[in-house]
Amino acid sequence: MSNVIKIFDTTLRDGEQSPGAAMNALQKLEVAKALDRMGVDIIEAGFPVSSKEQMEGVRLISETVTNSIVVGLARCVKGDVDAVYEATKSAKKRMLHIFIATSPIHMEFKLRKKPDEVLATIDEMIRYSKKYFDLIEFSAEDASRSDFDFLVQAYKTAIAAGATTINVPDTVGYSIPEEFGSVIARLCEAIPQFGKTVDLSVHCHNDLGLANANALSAVKNGATQVECTINGIGERAGNTAMEEFVMALNTRFDYFGKKTKIDTTLIYSTSKLLTHVTGLVPARNKAIVGDNVFIHESGIHQDGVIKHRETYEIMKAESIGRTADSLVLGRHSGMNGFKTRLDKLGVKLNSKEQLDDAFKRFSELADAKKEVYDDDLFVIIGDLLGTVREGWFLQYLNINSGNTIIPTATIKLTKGSEVFQAAATGDGPVDAVCNAIDKIIGIETSLSEYIVQGVSSGKDAQGEVKVSVSIKGSIYSGRGASTDVIEASGKAYLNAINKYCMIAAI
Ligand code: KIV
Ligand code: ZN
Repeated sequence: MSNVIKIFDTTLRDGEQSPGAAMNALQKLEVAKALDRMGVDIIEAGFPVSSKEQMEGVRLISETVTNSIVVGLARCVKGDVDAVYEATKSAKKRMLHIFIATSPIHMEFKLRKKPDEVLATIDEMIRYSKKYFDLIEFSAEDASRSDFDFLVQAYKTAIAAGATTINVPDTVGYSIPEEFGSVIARLCEAIPQFGKTVDLSVHCHNDLGLANANALSAVKNGATQVECTINGIGERAGNTAMEEFVMALNTRFDYFGKKTKIDTTLIYSTSKLLTHVTGLVPARNKAIVGDNVFIHESGIHQDGVIKHRETYEIMKAESIGRTADSLVLGRHSGMNGFKTRLDKLGVKLNSKEQLDDAFKRFSELADAKKEVYDDDLFVIIGDLLGTVREGWFLQYLNINSGNTIIPTATIKLTKGSEVFQAAATGDGPVDAVCNAIDKIIGIETSLSEYIVQGVSSGKDAQGEVKVSVSIKGSIYSGRGASTDVIEASGKAYLNAINKYCMIAAI
């Protein structure tokens, strides 16, 4: 058996499914290029049947990605399989990911199917899909709460019908590492094709904070593929974080004796890219990529690290591509320097038009603040990709505020060729801006989270605002940046509203 564990990245499917992480097709494409570049074996690009934007995202990724296999998700429904076929047609290497639930609770209450009917559906749908796909992954949803013997039957049926990878999802994050590892070992005993002609994959959710521990235990017991996401985003508490899994294998090769093909020096830039594209910021103490991870605060620790770094550091910051906050560019930097720096950060914009747009935004920023840092560049790229093509744009903003007057905002928005203007008051300047935007757009919203942060160092640093806006019962995250935090707030609020409009197709 090979000692290389395959990485199946589902940032753009399971990850994107989580509240506030919705991405448009261009944003997904940029993240997919970074994943491809870092050596991900398989990229799950989306769930094509679910919307036009999903279909477009998977199609664009299929056209562009050069090394990774591109996957689309399907339920055991012919229309879903056809949609994945349509979306991945132009991929160099493509795969279908098809799933159905196998646990008693899901079969009885969700599917309303008897176990025999589930087996028949697996057989029928994989045989149907085999006409279009050589590579098929079958997932038994809620596998960890399924009856073991029935699970084996489901997997044997899938393999006989043509599945080339079998996935064991801990859908609700219920498993305990020792127990999950033993299920994987028993599956390897029951199904001799695992590790030879069929890959055995695991997909662990983090509801009990055990996703990475479960994935590692599975690998110790015979799994040959792990499904994960950048920064661990995903349904509810998320999925196994790719950076945690990969760095655990790297750091403890002595224990696992396994590795992946991931270029770990691209972990940090890919994490940053995703953060700025989605607005979902990892906690400061998030393993591997959190802001605090390579900082030593206590005197005893600092003293130890100065004397000998390994006293308190088990990994080097450079091994994940984390270097000191590097001063990159200023107002005299040209296109060449700008593009070279983007290349170094792993950002490869798709067209000359996009690159020119990014450079224009960079030049405007360099005029407003003297020094432009890597984080500023990620903000520019995040802004550029987050611009919803047919969305609302903030053209103009004027604020009248102070501690003796009622804050008033006057704004001008455009949508396509139409121009809209409004003025509103509020409890503070940000509230006034949001009220003015609401007056124009006329959608009922409520701001559930508002975070403002400096992007880099210096008094002239850009402010980046991240918001969560609740619209019709769902949460949409938005982000905006500017050297003026009120303008950044307006942009972030509009960005969230534009995501809602994109998903609701209005
Ligand atoms: O968590 C889960 O069960 C899934 C399946 C679609 C694999 O995401
Ligand atoms: Zn999942």
